Formats: sequence, structure tokens, C-alpha cells
Amino acid sequence: MDRIVIQGGTRLEGRIPISGAKNSALKLMAAALLTDEPVTLTNMPRLADSRFMGHLMASLGVTVEEAPNACLNLHAAKFTDTYASYDLVRKMRATFNVLGPLIAREGKAKVSLPGGCAIGARPVDLHLKALEALGARIELSEGYVEASAPKGGLVGAEIDLPFASVGATEHAMLAASLARGETVIENAAREPEIGDLADCLTAMGALVEGAGTSSIRIQGREKLNGITHRVVGDRIETATYALAVAAAGGDAVLDGAVHAHNKALWSAMSKAGVTVEAVENGVRIARNGSRLDSVDIETQPYPGFPTDAQAQFMALMTLASGTSVIRETIFENRFMHAPELARLGADITVHGNEAVVRGVKTLKGAPVMATDLRASVSLVIAGLAAEGETVVNRVYHLDRGFERLEAKLTGCGARIERQAE
Ligand code: EPZ
Repeated sequence: MDRIVIQGGTRLEGRIPISGAKNSALKLMAAALLTDEPVTLTNMPRLADSRFMGHLMASLGVTVEEAPNACLNLHAAKFTDTYASYDLVRKMRATFNVLGPLIAREGKAKVSLPGGCAIGARPVDLHLKALEALGARIELSEGYVEASAPKGGLVGAEIDLPFASVGATEHAMLAASLARGETVIENAAREPEIGDLADCLTAMGALVEGAGTSSIRIQGREKLNGITHRVVGDRIETATYALAVAAAGGDAVLDGAVHAHNKALWSAMSKAGVTVEAVENGVRIARNGSRLDSVDIETQPYPGFPTDAQAQFMALMTLASGTSVIRETIFENRFMHAPELARLGADITVHGNEAVVRGVKTLKGAPVMATDLRASVSLVIAGLAAEGETVVNRVYHLDRGFERLEAKLTGCGARIERQAE
């Protein structure tokens, strides 16, 4: 198993290219199941998770072809199967999103329930309620969802989500695009990835209005067409490199970052004393040697502070002067990075969904263990800021969501390398 070795204490100077968003790309891939025409996604991140989704789609009979220049060609001309096994779905929850498109297009599907994961229980009840509202008959049996559409297909409906779930909103949008008539999703999630999916579905022929607000209106179509669509820039990768530059010190431009998609983070970073500036086609982050101020944050659905940047922000706060309180409200078990950060000398106490971070003057390199994607990268950030050598083990978590992490960081002066064990 590979590990990442970091010699900390080097400032980050230069430019870091931001890739397409993992969490958008996976749902856009699922959208390709809605049409028998070819779909090309550009600005596709090359990640373990997107490859994994590709494997699942190929197992359904979809032609999946990685092309040069970050393009992915998908063609679901016809399906050879409508079954997604436990083995395929448990490894990555986003694969569950094939359920709605399969029912919408093929009238039936059998897809494994995803089960919990390291950061929390993560049920899919809201996904299933949304599909039921569109007329799908759903049965749960032996860990599988067996679903079918009524004769004549799914029918548009009003879907009122009790919580603004990202996955359930996207799943409802996908299925509603091939349902007869109008669907309205109330209390919809407002993440930029929802807007990206709405643009894609609209280009495919469905009419999706209101993405980015809590009320999304979709006019479904009997048939959707193929398209070429550019994946939106990854706001969490942007947040991660911004926090890396802030923690290590330096001055870097994040090329392709969308400034408007990270306002809550920029506000917290500015309060901490980091310079954040929108520049042409990107964002500039700078911090000189001065000590940071501590800032309290609470994770919230978009436009609030993103849970996917909470671990990375905690890494920054370990070095601030004073005490920062970090409250996690989206997932019930998302502080696994805290004890690992403590191995580098951070002073963190966790009580339930609250972490109290008392800033220290310096972190010292140490061997640490990655536990999930965002937790892992928070250890990389801390390692970049620490004195001496940090070794991050179990880096397969990082490969799920960060494309060419070492190359991007080395490109702006970091001393970081991957070693095979
Ligand atoms: C998406 O997960 C992202 N994943 C997550 O990113 C991200 O943390 C999350 O949205 C919140 O922004 C992908 O897009 C692939 P939710 P998702 O449905 O859709 C509860 C990363 O690191 N809930 O908004 O699963 C759920 O348990 C990952 O890239 C239900 O109770 O998030 C959680 O507590 C991690 N029932 C909360 O809602 C449901 O049916 C938010 O989940 C669905 C969700």
C-alpha cells in the first residue's frame, strides 16, 4: 500500500490547477444512463471514484471510454443488465444513483443498499421516498432495493424533502427528467453540483429551473438526447489547496477555482487573517509568516460551511492563536482526523459533534493514518505546515478524490512524494 511522505515547512508559491468536481462528475455519469445517445463529459477528474463508477456502468452494458484531455465518453445505447451488486455499491455510495435512471429508462432495477460508511450511517430513505413519489414501487429484500416503474413510466410529482439532502435531490432530478409531466422538489439542496447537474439535464432536453434555490422545477421528457458537458470546478479541492497554502504559508493562484462557490470558507479564512482574492479564472490565496487568528465554524448545507472542508479547516486552526470551536452538523462521525492531528502535536478535544481546537505554535512531523478522503487530506495539510517528516499511510483514500495531489503540490514548491511500501 502506498504512503505519502512530506518534508514540512516549505512555503507554497505558484499556481495549482483545479480539476472537475468529483461529486458532480459522478452524478453526471449517472445522467448518461438517461439517454441512448452518446454523452461526453469534459474537465473530468481522473479519480479512483470516477473509474469505479465507470466499472459499474460498464457492467450494465454502457460503453465507457476515457479519452485524452480529461474527456470521458459514455454511451448507454442499451442495457445488458439492471442489477448493481453489493460489492459494487458498498465501495462507493454514489453508485446508488444509478437506481433512478435505470427505473426511469428500463422500468426496473435491483440495486444494493449502500450501507453506512466511516463518517456516518448515511441512510437512503429520502432517495427512496423521492422515487416512490414519482410512482416507483420499491421493495427492500435481503439488502437490495428492487424497484419498478408503473406501466407508462414514472410520473412527475411534488417531492418535499424533510432535509436538503444532496444525493436525494440529485437522484430525484435524474429520475424526474424522464418522468411524464412536472416535478417540483421542495427543500432541495442548493450545492453548486446541483446547478451543474441541472445544466446537464437541461442540455439533454429536460427543462430544469430553480437549481441553486430550495425549489427545483423539472419538466420531464419521454426521451433525452446526448450532449457534451463540462464538469464544474471542484470547490472542495479548491478549499483544500487554499487551506494548504494558508497553513504552510505562501502565495498561490488556484487556476479554474470558482470564487463564488466557496463564500463561507473565504469568510472564515479572511477572519483568520488569510488573503483571499478573486482573480481571472481563479482565486489567489496568500499568507505571510504572521500567526493566524482562531475562528469558530459550523458545517451546514450549502451555502453554509461545507462538511467536506471541515477536516482541512481544523488542520489550519491547530496553528491559530487562541481557541476555535468546530461544530459538525451533517455527519455524526466526522472527527476521525482529530486524534491523528494530535499525533503531530495539535491540541484538540472532541465532545460529541463539537471539537475544541486550542492553537499551538508549531506542529511536528509524525507517522499518521488516513481514515477517509477528507480526513486524509487534512493530515497532508498539517504535514505541509509541520516541522520535519510526516508519513501519511493508507493513501488509497486520497486517490478516491484528489487527482495528482503530489504533482500539484510539488509544482508550487512542496516537498511531498509517494512511496510504494
Ligand atoms: C454528498 O453526500 C457528497 N457525496 C458528500 O461528499 C458530502 O459530504 C455531502 O453530500 C454533503 O455535502 C457525493 O456527492 C458523492 P446528503 P450525500 O444526502 O449526498 C442524511 C466527500 O467527501 N441523509 O446531503 O450522501 C445523511 O445521513 C463526500 O466527497 C438521510 O438521513 O449527502 C447525512 O447525515 C462525503 N437520508 C445528511 O443527510 C437520506 O436518504 C447529508 O447527506 C440521505 C441523506
